[in-house]
Amino acid sequence: MNQLTITQPDDWHLHVRDNDVMASVIGFTARQFGRAIIMPNLKTPVTTTAEALAYKDRILSALPENSSFQPLMTLYLTDNTPAEEIKKAKDSGFIHAVKLYPAGATTNADSGVTDLKKTEAALAAMEQHGLPLLVHGEVTHPSIDIFDREKVFIDQQLVPLIERHPNLRIVFEHITTTDAVQFVTESNNNIAATITPQHLLLNRNAMLVGGIHPHNYCLPVLKRETHREALLKAATSGNPKFFLGTDSAPHAKNDKESSCGCAGIFSAHAALEFYAIAFEQADALDKLEGFASFYGADFYGLPRNTQQLTLSKTRLEIPTEISFGNQTLVPFFAGETLQWALS
Ligand code: DOR
Ligand code: ZN
Repeated sequence: MNQLTITQPDDWHLHVRDNDVMASVIGFTARQFGRAIIMPNLKTPVTTTAEALAYKDRILSALPENSSFQPLMTLYLTDNTPAEEIKKAKDSGFIHAVKLYPAGATTNADSGVTDLKKTEAALAAMEQHGLPLLVHGEVTHPSIDIFDREKVFIDQQLVPLIERHPNLRIVFEHITTTDAVQFVTESNNNIAATITPQHLLLNRNAMLVGGIHPHNYCLPVLKRETHREALLKAATSGNPKFFLGTDSAPHAKNDKESSCGCAGIFSAHAALEFYAIAFEQADALDKLEGFASFYGADFYGLPRNTQQLTLSKTRLEIPTEISFGNQTLVPFFAGETLQWALS
């Protein structure tokens, strides 16, 4: 196959940051995707409908001229999110989900949830009003090995959460393990998952063999090859519970190449191309459209996009650096040549 035309996709998990650095990255996403779920983990997290509206306006102002890209906003769940704020968010019409970061789990997660029990009123309101919960599914207790944090989260947090709130719609974000694939597959239709390009294309060797590769470090961290294979199988299965979410997460080069480097991989410059490479490896390019363009919209109860776009078998050279405000970032597959490109 040398060309692939599909309905325009959406990115159901994206970080664009704010202000001048946002202006450097937003165009990459707007070029490919019709819409994206915008993560709320700014330095000052987006915890209210009013803050989300202001953030949405800043995103719209940063877009290239004539772009029809739509940011789908989210709220950042805290121990103190009131049920009334959930109702207000739902009524706003532009907030599509609420994000759970266990406190300390990742970048800008310090204001996250310390104990799910403290969020019961907010969760009940989300369940009642049909506002999905997006979950960063990792426990943070220091005694739990970082490679086991997703599996332990399922057992200790997610299973009881679903028992308490059977009608809550949940997206288990950026899943990384066989355990998560199995859990989502066996759950009811209120539970879905996003999968990133890095977890489909790489295993943990890409981070640790031949030296430390900080630009392949993200959270949840890359896992062993058997997990990657399970994720690729799920993504290409045609099961609508699994859909595209890049988790493209830009950080300045200096902040990644540091004695304590930040978690996050920037993939927005060639997101769809990365997924095409993964799906081609599994001989499943015919399954890309459902994963990238249909299942996420269906889960969120939004119309599917109507425009189309075409990927072609042509060389795409990835730059070694991309400007990022007054600094630079190192993009996923920096300096390499891909065999697919958006026409
Ligand atoms: O690698 C990650 N980067 N994982 C996250 O959960 C957050 C993200 C970020 O905001 O940089
Ligand atoms: Zn993320």
